[in-house]
Amino acid sequence: MQATKIPHTRPDSSFDTVVVGAGLIGLAVAWRAATRGLRVALADPEPGSGASHVAAGMLAPVTEAHYGEEALLRLNLASAARYPAFAAELEEAAGTTSGYSERGTLAVAFDADDRAVLADLAAFHRTLGLDSEPVSARECRRLEPLLSPDVQAGLRVSGDHQVDNRQLIAALLSAVGQRRVPLYRERVAELLVEHDAVAGVRLSGGETVRADRVVIAAGCHSTSIPGVPPGLLPPIRPVKGQILRLSVPSDAVPFLNSAVRGLVRGRQVYLVPRDHGELVVGATVEELGYDTRVTAGGVYELLRAAHALVPGITELPLAEVRAGLRPGSPDNAPVIGPTALPGLIAATGHFRNGVLLTPVTADAIAELLATGELPAEARGFEPARFAAAAPSAAAR
Ligand code: GLY
Repeated sequence: MQATKIPHTRPDSSFDTVVVGAGLIGLAVAWRAATRGLRVALADPEPGSGASHVAAGMLAPVTEAHYGEEALLRLNLASAARYPAFAAELEEAAGTTSGYSERGTLAVAFDADDRAVLADLAAFHRTLGLDSEPVSARECRRLEPLLSPDVQAGLRVSGDHQVDNRQLIAALLSAVGQRRVPLYRERVAELLVEHDAVAGVRLSGGETVRADRVVIAAGCHSTSIPGVPPGLLPPIRPVKGQILRLSVPSDAVPFLNSAVRGLVRGRQVYLVPRDHGELVVGATVEELGYDTRVTAGGVYELLRAAHALVPGITELPLAEVRAGLRPGSPDNAPVIGPTALPGLIAATGHFRNGVLLTPVTADAIAELLATGELPAEARGFEPARFAAAAPSAAAR
């Protein structure tokens, strides 16, 4: 992706912190740390081009809540609650939109089995006191006139919002530029360790960038950085997601009034409308390693499910088909906090929640960098949970 231009002045090659990876997490960590007065640099050969760029930008802690992941749900809710202030502050700093929108979400069921699953989800929400409202098929169509008459039932979740992830990347690039955070558009060739502590990084071009702290925020590439001693980070695996972008003609925008998340004969699909005429349809979940090929089967599967819910999508031009790699940790919860190597900090493994968890992760890491303490909401997600073979945060 062509990123927004930011200054490339390199007044110094010694910093408090180098953030490895300039996706949403890395950019937000660098911005938050810089606003706290820390001298920060970023390193990424292609800022904002990975999973952050491909994502749909749903902020959906409630409709994506899963049994056994209550701790992750709390973190997701905490991050969702920060979004309005985070977006407002970012817009002020960047001078551009953040892409945040409080348009809600309607979850719908296509057949009787899907309806039973949706009823289970509604019951789970009630147990946890989460805000969701079961609605009839008729009400679903009143809310979303383009829904198929086959839709059987729905669940209205007004608090699950969205952000245009590409606008968010652009705003964060602008905000770190305003803070004059240097952005090294190079791969990190090696983590530098001296006297059993982090000393900085060596870039692929040979330049050394010294820093007492290095934050690894490199998504699914987080565990392939040379020089990181083995065992400090859990394996972070790539989980492929194919996703489509359709163009809605200006006289039909927004096409849908809310994000629609559907279950269609057991398959999940979501349709996320944007004010500027994009309709994002996602996403497959495939464990295929570092494979970003788009396949006929992936596109067919998405279009078939989306068409079952909203038949009119087939009239829309298909603008883009992409595959991204979500960074999955062994328990699918993020890995946030210090490692056993002094100065090495993790901000990775956000799996399906990277866009949602951006504010809470950035604030937690900035707090850790500024004070040495990880705030309470991020505790339980540290890398040490894997080393100690403790029960996973996601399961507590
Ligand atoms: N959170 C949406 C996805 O991972 O597909």
